[in-house]
Order: sequence, then C-alpha cells, then structure tokens
Amino acid sequence: MEIDSTSSLFQGFENQNDFLMSHTDFVAEVPAGFKNIGKTMHCPNAAMENSDKKLYGIQFHPEVNLSVNGTKVIYNFLFNICKCSGDWQISSFVEDSIKTLKEKIGDGKALCALSGGVDSSVAAVLLHKAIGKNLTCIFVDHGLLRKNEGDEVEEIFRNQFDINLLRVDAKDRFLEKLSGVTDPEKKRKIIGEEFIRVFEEEAKKIGTVDFLVQGTIYPDVIESGLGKSSVIKSHHNVGGLPDYVDFKEIVEPLRNLFKDEVRKTGLELGIPENLVFRQPFPGPGLAIRIIGDITDDKLNILKDADSIFREEIANAGLDKSINQYFAVLTNLKSVGVMGDERTYDYTIALRAVETTDFMTGVWSKIPYEVLEKVSSRIVNEVKHVNRVVYDITSKPPATIEWE
Ligand code: XMP
Repeated sequence: MEIDSTSSLFQGFENQNDFLMSHTDFVAEVPAGFKNIGKTMHCPNAAMENSDKKLYGIQFHPEVNLSVNGTKVIYNFLFNICKCSGDWQISSFVEDSIKTLKEKIGDGKALCALSGGVDSSVAAVLLHKAIGKNLTCIFVDHGLLRKNEGDEVEEIFRNQFDINLLRVDAKDRFLEKLSGVTDPEKKRKIIGEEFIRVFEEEAKKIGTVDFLVQGTIYPDVIESGLGKSSVIKSHHNVGGLPDYVDFKEIVEPLRNLFKDEVRKTGLELGIPENLVFRQPFPGPGLAIRIIGDITDDKLNILKDADSIFREEIANAGLDKSINQYFAVLTNLKSVGVMGDERTYDYTIALRAVETTDFMTGVWSKIPYEVLEKVSSRIVNEVKHVNRVVYDITSKPPATIEWE
C-alpha cells in the first residue's frame, strides 16, 4: 500500500507498507474535511485523516500478523495521537480486581464453570482470592479433553488452590448425544447444549447463587457480536449459561483483557506456567478433531497420537514457538504393512501453526527429524494408525482446526 508517511498515523514508516486488506469493498471518495493518506491499486482510499479533528480511518487490518508493522500503526494512534501513557500494570489490575470483587460479592455465593482453559482458570483463581470458599467451580468433563487433562485440572484446582471443585464425569452422556453425528456445526451445537444441561443440573443441586462467574475476555466480546462479521465457526464461549442458571448477577472479571494480559494475570496469581501458557483448546474439544462420527475407540486413538505429538514437540523445545499444535483423526483409512501383515487403518494428520492472533497464521516448519520421530512413534505405539501426514496449509485459506 502507498502511504503518506507525513501523517501522524504512519510516523516512522516508509512510503510503502504491506498491510493485510480485503479488496471486496472500498471507499470511493473521502468525506469533506478528510485527506487521503493511503491507497492501493484496487482501493483508492485505504486510509484517511482529518488531523484538525484528530479523526483517522483505515480499511486494512493493522492487528493481524500478516500486516507488516501493523502494531506500529496502533502504537502511533494510541501514543502519538491519543496521547495515552501506557502505564497500566497487571499487578495493580489483580489488586484492584480482588478488592472490587470482595466489595461487590461480600458474603454472597458465586458459581463458575471451569474448563481447564486459561480464561476460566484465571477467572476462578481471581474469584477464589477474593471470596474463598464462597466460590464453587463446576468442571464438566465431557470426555473430549486431551489425554490426562481432566485429572490435571482437578489436581491444580482442588489440591493446589484448595478451590471448592465439583468435577462431573459426563463423557457417556456426551458420546451418546454425539453418536453418528458427522456435521461439525451440529457437533458444536450438541456439545454446547449438553454442556449447559449438565451444568444446569449440577447448579440446581447447589441452589440459587448470587453470582455467575464467566471467563469472558475482550476478544470473545468482539467476536460475539460487536460487528456483523459472518460466523465461520460458531463458538460457544459467551452466552448460553446465563439463561439456565439461577443467579442474580453475572461477573466477568477478565472482560477488558486481551489474552496476553490474562496470562500475565494468571502468573501474578501463582497459576502454574504450564497451565497459563497452555495452547488454546476448543470448547468442543477432540470432537472437532475427529473427522466424521465420534466413538470411544476413535477418541482413544486420537488422545494417544496427540499426546505423542505434544511430547515430542516439547522434547524438541518447540512448545513455546509453535502456538497451536495437535493431531487430527482423519476419516481416511488406507493400506499399510506391519510385519508380514497387510493393514487397513486410520491416517493421523498433524497440525501445527504459528500465529499470535489465531485469525491468520502460517504452518510451522517443524524439522524433518522431529516429524519423523513423531510419525514413527505414532504408527508403532498407537493401534489402528498406519499413516501420518503433516498439514502444510496456512490460514487463510485453511482454518486451524479441521472442522
Ligand atoms: P479456526 O479453526 O477457526 O480456529 O482457524 C481459530 C482458533 O479458534 C479455536 N476454535 C474454537 N474454540 N470453540 C472454541 O472454543 C470452537 O468451536 C472453536 N473452533 C475453533 C481454534 O482451536 C483456534 O485456536
């Protein structure tokens, strides 16, 4: 894009920069009082300003990885134009939040749905620090978590933090509802609904609570409907529960935080690093990593393969640089040989992406030796898998998950 580097918005830029933009719509003419400060061959007004009124408009995505120096545009806007000071600290956020929550909740009772993910974990510990045993966490184990994950969640929250935790083993219920279902969106819907049912039943046993805690973070707020962007995959992180649980008020202590700030809050609260830096894991869990219908056997195959992949990524020291990596159980069976025997077994796909925003990303160039080790371990150690493939597609055009 050709940009006007004399504009405060592009301070420190050359006159050309690569920003990610879509070419489907464009502003044909800038409004009165505005000056064009950026254009491409296809988009005559990709950026504009009214410097007297300090108004700026852009039609590209400075926030995504693919925009070169995009964050510098945001920096210029915040610090040079809006004169923000940037002196906000996580430690004061934690202190202030605990104080505010204490005042707000007092002796009231609060209920929290704990998934073991970063957001709900940080929200739960924050609440626990504020109100102690007046917080009850319900952990619905839908059986679609990664290998050993349910036990790990229980260990951290029950033993390490001494939080009132109710773990509900609901695997059979979920698998029954999912039986024969192949459509990804249907799977998501069933899991979302069943999750609410289970939570509702458990919450009823507790009775009326004063507050329902949700680990909503700022990107969830945006995704759930500030804009009109089309739903690519339905997420069920926000909403749902409130309609079904008997409570007086909702508490969302992380509502204004971005993910990196949530992680910093987690560390400040003493949550173990491996949980705080846990890679994102979708709410519907392994259900959307098993292509086609889900069975207990397929779940076990995927859990084992995924666990080997994660172990070898950690052994190779790549677990901090790859932002999301997992195995997918494709619905494809192919012919192989094992000893003298012909086999006809499943293909496991490995997926690994590098991204910060998860809206765009590139496939990770994992060294061949690591891939080789993962592949040979999976076919040797996991029954009913005779082939491993590596997904070399970036996002876009592919999404991170396969379903
Ligand atoms: P996609 O596949 O859309 O994924 O490129 C982007 C990020 O979102 C996660 N994801 C989900 N998370 N419920 C969730 O809570 C879902 O249904 C869901 N689908 C995708 C995905 O793991 C990746 O981090």
